[in-house]
Amino acid sequence: MKAGRNKTIDLSVEEGNEYLKKCLMLDKKAELPDVLDKTILGDTFEVLRLLPKESVDLLIVDPPYNLDKDFHGNKFKKTSDEAYLEYTEKWVELVKPLLKADATVYVCCDWISSPSIFMVLKENFHVQNRITWQREKGRGALSNWKNGMEDIWFVTNSAKYTFNVEAVKMRRSVIAPYKVDGKPKDWEETENGNFRNTYPSNFWDDISIPYWSMSENTAHPTQKPEKLLAKLILASSNEGDVILDPFLGSGSTSVTAKKLGRHFIGIEQNVQYCIWAEKRLEMAEEDKTIQGYADGVFWERNTGRLQRKGRKRE
Ligand SMILES: C[S@@+](CC[C@H](N)C(=O)[O-])C[C@H]1O[C@@H](n2cnc3c(N)ncnc32)[C@H](O)[C@@H]1O
Repeated sequence: MKAGRNKTIDLSVEEGNEYLKKCLMLDKKAELPDVLDKTILGDTFEVLRLLPKESVDLLIVDPPYNLDKDFHGNKFKKTSDEAYLEYTEKWVELVKPLLKADATVYVCCDWISSPSIFMVLKENFHVQNRITWQREKGRGALSNWKNGMEDIWFVTNSAKYTFNVEAVKMRRSVIAPYKVDGKPKDWEETENGNFRNTYPSNFWDDISIPYWSMSENTAHPTQKPEKLLAKLILASSNEGDVILDPFLGSGSTSVTAKKLGRHFIGIEQNVQYCIWAEKRLEMAEEDKTIQGYADGVFWERNTGRLQRKGRKRE
């Protein structure tokens, strides 16, 4: 039995079978309308070969990191840096022809996988930046520093690319409220506190991993938060654009793309994860909210109460 406030997605076998029917299995070359807004069940190294060329505006990749991980039966085994680099080259070679000339690519990784991934990305794309996501998870290590961060590489197909900086501003509390002629200098005085909307940096400390009291939560071992994907999607795509995720997991990229009015294509080899993705896509029909993103800005951690207060006032 789940505790009352536990919102983790959980389905019966019968329900699961219904969601599975919505997924696609590809055995021949597809046109864009065949695969648009679909979850494709299959091996990404096979499926990518069947997708239409030059059709993707934004590629978001969260591949298995170079560590031992059990994805509910599909085990990824830690390998040498050289073998992981070859693995990365393999999927990059397959996704590259699918990208439009002005496409953007984000690749998530941990500090161990990051050097191999960077080597491959710099050979194939224009490297724009590396985002550091400060991520709290798990217990401390007894003989090492606990890992509290991940990298997200930001690369583009050419020097021309989309970057909507106004769409990804952060609302921060003002610690030292500086005034000129009695008026706030670049900040806003509200009944809920003093705030400043700031341009985002490449250090992200405002995003928690999904946990049991969040309605986006599943039992996927490495689920990414919708808030993180919302930043990538709002900054680097426009409404109606096509977003591809070749390692979809529990569907976070597709769900966030749908909530923000973008098209999506997701590929995942695990049946259970495809089912969760479809369930979440159905939930997104009714509920377009993204935890931590409200009133067109991203909020700091633990400000849910302030966000709700603001909404009630409107
Ligand atoms: C790091 S997880 C992605 C998690 C995802 N971002 C989310 O929010 O749930 C990587 C995913 O890639 C899937 N995967 C690994 N190898 C694959 C392959 N060859 N084809 C399709 N999916 C694969 C795994 O099953 C796993 O769900």
